[in-house]
Parts: sequence; structure tokens; C-alpha cells
Amino acid sequence: MAAKLIKGAEVAAQIRAELKQEVDELKAKHNLTPGLVTILVGQDPGSVSYVTAKQKTSHELGFYSIQDNQEPDITEAALLGLLDKYNKDPKIHGILVQLPLPKHIDSNKVLYGINPDKDVDAFHPVNVGRILIGNYAFLPCTPAGCQELIYRAYGDPKGKEVVVVGRSNIVGKPMVAIMIQKRAGANATVTCVHTGTPKDKMIEHCRRADILIVAAGVPNYIQADWVKEGVCVIDVGVNRIGMTESGKAKLAGDVDFAAVSEKASFITPVPGGVGPMTITMLMKNTVMAAKLAAGLVKL
Ligand code: GUN
Repeated sequence: MAAKLIKGAEVAAQIRAELKQEVDELKAKHNLTPGLVTILVGQDPGSVSYVTAKQKTSHELGFYSIQDNQEPDITEAALLGLLDKYNKDPKIHGILVQLPLPKHIDSNKVLYGINPDKDVDAFHPVNVGRILIGNYAFLPCTPAGCQELIYRAYGDPKGKEVVVVGRSNIVGKPMVAIMIQKRAGANATVTCVHTGTPKDKMIEHCRRADILIVAAGVPNYIQADWVKEGVCVIDVGVNRIGMTESGKAKLAGDVDFAAVSEKASFITPVPGGVGPMTITMLMKNTVMAAKLAAGLVKL
């Protein structure tokens, strides 16, 4: 294999060590303990494991941390009332409502009910706007994790051709907004291809990429002859493609890893690439939210 593996777990551990030191200092010097609430509606097994991991990491970092479990039939009004309570709670700096929500609840209404300064997912339209303008406190966790991996493993993407495959609100669109920022870790030339891009054009654009970020949701979508030699590949895809013999979900990314890694200079594996970064970026956002609330940083 030609490519160097970008090991998300190692980068995430390094960032968490940096964050732990910062949290210890905030406590000692400013009597400030970052506070995070994760709200789970129902008991979807995937969501339970995500919020459990978020809570575990926030405890390890020494946060004030609440796991708020709600019944699956909670009304939208009651959930908005709960958000109002946490919006007003000075010990809580970050609020995360785990998605997806049950069908009887309008997810947008709920996400818009979070105070933007406590919106550590950065899904609120105010934060989406702040990111586009370039004056922001938080970035959405998954694309922020991709940016960290690129910066720490590959180097500064300034002036590079970045191609983003996918245009979701959670990954593709914010990824574009992040990489076009005029600041270190960004400043790239960015192209976004998506389901509206004809296949021949899609391949043409991918072949130009110095850095290819893929969030297509299609297993093994990107083929070796779609990429150029030396490309840095960030694979955001997590596709369940069956079961292992031990009964665990078998995962595949959006990139044909075996073939593409022969041509790439850097590549993220699935699992173990982008995945471990997401929760770490949530922790980073919560520390930032605490500093914002205490006036230690300003927007
Ligand atoms: N469900 C899956 N990923 C996420 C995420 O990043 N944030 C929230 N709130 N819910 C999710």
C-alpha cells in the first residue's frame, strides 16, 4: 500500500490531551467547568451508543455533564420547553439533541430552539451563517474533524484543489464553507460535486483533486481511476454492508480503500479515520462555548 494511513484515533487522542489541559486550566484559573447536556429521545440503539460515547468522553475531560433521556412520545412543545430550561442554565454551555428524532417532532424546530451560543453541533441557522461569513465560534463536528485530520497529517491545504463529494447540511456544505475560509487550515480552491453532477463530470473533478473529501453515503463509490497519484483522501462514509462472524456490523467507507490507497499519499480508513474525530470536536466546541459564556473569548 502506497498511502500513509491517517489514524483518527491517534489524532483525536492528541487533541483530547490538549483539551484536558485547557479544561484543567479553566477550572484552576477561572473557576469555569465546561457543561454539556446530551438529550436523547427514545432508545434507538445507534443513538444510545453515540450519546454514551459522548458522555464518556466529556466525563474523562472533567466536564459537568448531563445525559437527559426522554420518552419516545415526548411532545414537540415539551422538548422545546426542556431546551428552554437548558438555554437558561448557566452551568450548561453546550446542548446537543441527538438525531434522528421521532417523526412526530419537527427536527428543524427543535434545532432552532437551541441558543446559538450553546449550539455545539453548529446546526442552528445563525451558526451556519456565522460560518459562511467567517466569524464563528463553532464548526460542525464531522467536517471540523476532517479539517483537523488534513491539517495535522497532510499539511496546510492553502492553494490546493479540494473536491468535496456530497452536499449534505451536516458534512458536504459546511465542509465547503470551512475549506474556503481565508485562514490557516483552509484557503483552498474548492469544488463540490453531488447527485446533480453528471458522472463523467464527477470523475473529471475528482481526478483534479489534491484533497478529496467524500461524504456520498454509497459504499466503495470512489474508484482508483477517479483519483490522481498522491491525492489525500478523507472518507467520511460509514456504510453497514453486512455482519461479521462475531455478529458486529461490517463497515465500508465511500472509497474503494484497497485500490485507492495504492495511488493516494494519505487516506483515512473506515472505521478508525474520521469517526473518532467527531466526538472530540464536540468536546472542543463545548470548551469554546464555556469560554464564550465566561467572556474569555469573543466572536
Ligand atoms: N446523529 C448522528 N450524528 C449526529 C451529530 O453529529 N449530531 C447530532 N445532534 N445527532 C447526530
